[in-house]
Amino acid sequence: MIGSTRVGIVGGGPAGLMLSHLLQVAGIDSIVIETRSREEIEQTHRAGILERDSVRLLVESGVSDRVLREGHEHQGIDLRFGGVSHRIDFQGLVGASVWLYPQTDVFIDLASARERDGGDVRYGVTETAVVDVTSDRPGMLFTDAEGVRQEVRCDVLVGADGSHSMTRSTVVDRKDYFRQYPFAWFGILCEAPPSAPELIYTRSERGFALISQRTDSVQRMYFQCSPDESVDDWSEDRIWAELQARLAGADGFTLKEGRIFDKTVLPFRSYVCEPLRYGNLVLAGDAAHTVPPTGAKGLNLALADVRVLAEVLESAVLKNDKAALDSYTARALDRVWKAQYFSNWMTTMLHALPDASDFDVRRQLAELTAVVDSEHASRYLAECYTGWPTP
Ligand code: PHB
Repeated sequence: MIGSTRVGIVGGGPAGLMLSHLLQVAGIDSIVIETRSREEIEQTHRAGILERDSVRLLVESGVSDRVLREGHEHQGIDLRFGGVSHRIDFQGLVGASVWLYPQTDVFIDLASARERDGGDVRYGVTETAVVDVTSDRPGMLFTDAEGVRQEVRCDVLVGADGSHSMTRSTVVDRKDYFRQYPFAWFGILCEAPPSAPELIYTRSERGFALISQRTDSVQRMYFQCSPDESVDDWSEDRIWAELQARLAGADGFTLKEGRIFDKTVLPFRSYVCEPLRYGNLVLAGDAAHTVPPTGAKGLNLALADVRVLAEVLESAVLKNDKAALDSYTARALDRVWKAQYFSNWMTTMLHALPDASDFDVRRQLAELTAVVDSEHASRYLAECYTGWPTP
């Protein structure tokens, strides 16, 4: 079957669905294709922090205001090192907050809004390919969930198909900026009450740990591990002993423990693709860039990308000004590189590097002390964490 639309979107995660929603608000038709089923995406655990402007986008564009009712506003975080916690007061420093609202819920809201508004989202497709991306009528080819072979031609194709992006591989002239780290995160979900009112980012001699939250009875925690760590080597007792040891301090802080029902080792890398436009294909979200999770920026960057992209596509599609697509790379990458810097900074400031010398260790502690002792440095951290304003 051969069909057509204005914008073809490969990938139905938050970036693809948000873009499709914003395009509909602007009066532009799109079709989204996604290899996973809706249920499968709903069961994927991802990060949980939304910047102020990400919350605003969800609410003001009419996706949903559930984040305001069910999300939790966090006005700061704790940086913990040397067994002592230091609060970074976002409200006091920059007058902004972030919201704890898991990516799964963002996806659920977006998928419901697309369904409510009659958006065309095809889940569970297979054998996807993009063709003729440098022509005026690029296309997406796929087999739909009913097994029917489909071809959709469009004005512009968007690759929002995640970090293992298939669409990105068609960008032949791209430059890949890449950094690998000698560690990963071990993530758990457990049945326990919160151990603290806000998130705790901890540096210890045993490595980094992050105490995050999900609900009143479910918590999300992470600890630095080796990239080839196997979850099977970690019993509940071993996990709790490790987390407690990393959080321990003279203040007697202990984590509230509970049954662990999910264990995953998360990949960890920094990546940027440039340019983000190739002919009539543009990339967005994880397909375009990846950040280490320490700055909680991944989902926020994806939403910021598509906010810019929706504007650019309005010019490209409604005013037939394809040159507008050229401005997308520079506009999106400005924020992406700031986030790369911030995520890398938070990562190197808080993680134990396997080959660190005694000097490196003292320097790292001095860096943390300098940040919490300086109002200027704390404010910079708060500004980055809560998100740069959208022009
Ligand atoms: C999470 O809750 O999953 C989370 C929070 C903050 C981060 C990373 C992950 O920096």
